[in-house]
Amino acid sequence: NSRRPMVAGNWKMNGDLALVTQMQDAFKQNRFENVDVLVCPPFTLLAGFSSNDVGLGAQTISEHPGGAHTGEISAVMLRDVGCGHVIVGHSERRTDQHESNTLVAAKVNAAFSSGLTAILCVGEPLAVREAGKVFDHVAEQLDAVIGHCGSDVLNNLVIAYEPIWAIGTGNTASPEQVQEVHAFIRSHLAKVDAMAAAKIRILYGGSVNATNAAQIFAQTDVDGGLIGGASLKVTDFLAICQAAN
Ligand code: G3H
Repeated sequence: NSRRPMVAGNWKMNGDLALVTQMQDAFKQNRFENVDVLVCPPFTLLAGFSSNDVGLGAQTISEHPGGAHTGEISAVMLRDVGCGHVIVGHSERRTDQHESNTLVAAKVNAAFSSGLTAILCVGEPLAVREAGKVFDHVAEQLDAVIGHCGSDVLNNLVIAYEPIWAIGTGNTASPEQVQEVHAFIRSHLAKVDAMAAAKIRILYGGSVNATNAAQIFAQTDVDGGLIGGASLKVTDFLAICQAAN
């Protein structure tokens, strides 16, 4: 396919200024011509990335444009420190911060309307998979966003499929399981806008590491990865970027 792969490292609530320096040096020395590489550190470290050697993303965004919302960070603020992307609707936030599909849609809209590219996370818990309802679950998560933002959003959006049972567990979904859901996502989006669906990047996330990355990235509808734990180790993250390059 002609889609340019993306590898995004989601540091979650990890990392420090020393890791920013290490990561920045690593990407100064290692270029990946054929892949968009992103680092998504905590808010406090965003401004620590001072060069353009690696793309920058945030881990969440306020649904509001600004004003009296203590503790929140707006799209304009993210752009101001050099972010081009923002992860929205990560399962940890859907659980820990009780983010609903409606709130996730509002956050994607805040990013989209400010020219930031949202990386929309979708994916099912184990019980949903065992009940055979993966497609329904993922479709509902996608439809909430398209319903709120309009189909135009598909022209500036990245999807990350992250089965919750595979996150941080070492329990990667099999390449066949990943491909099956990615193909479903693309076909579901094609019902809304076939051209945008053919172009949209669908990343896989969930226990991707330097060893299993190549096999997952080789699947037809997989356009890279959203990497948690392995994105905190420079050599592992570089190896994963190389697997997508
Ligand atoms: O955003 C990243 C995902 O939640 C995957 O995390 O690679 O530690 O399993 P993980």
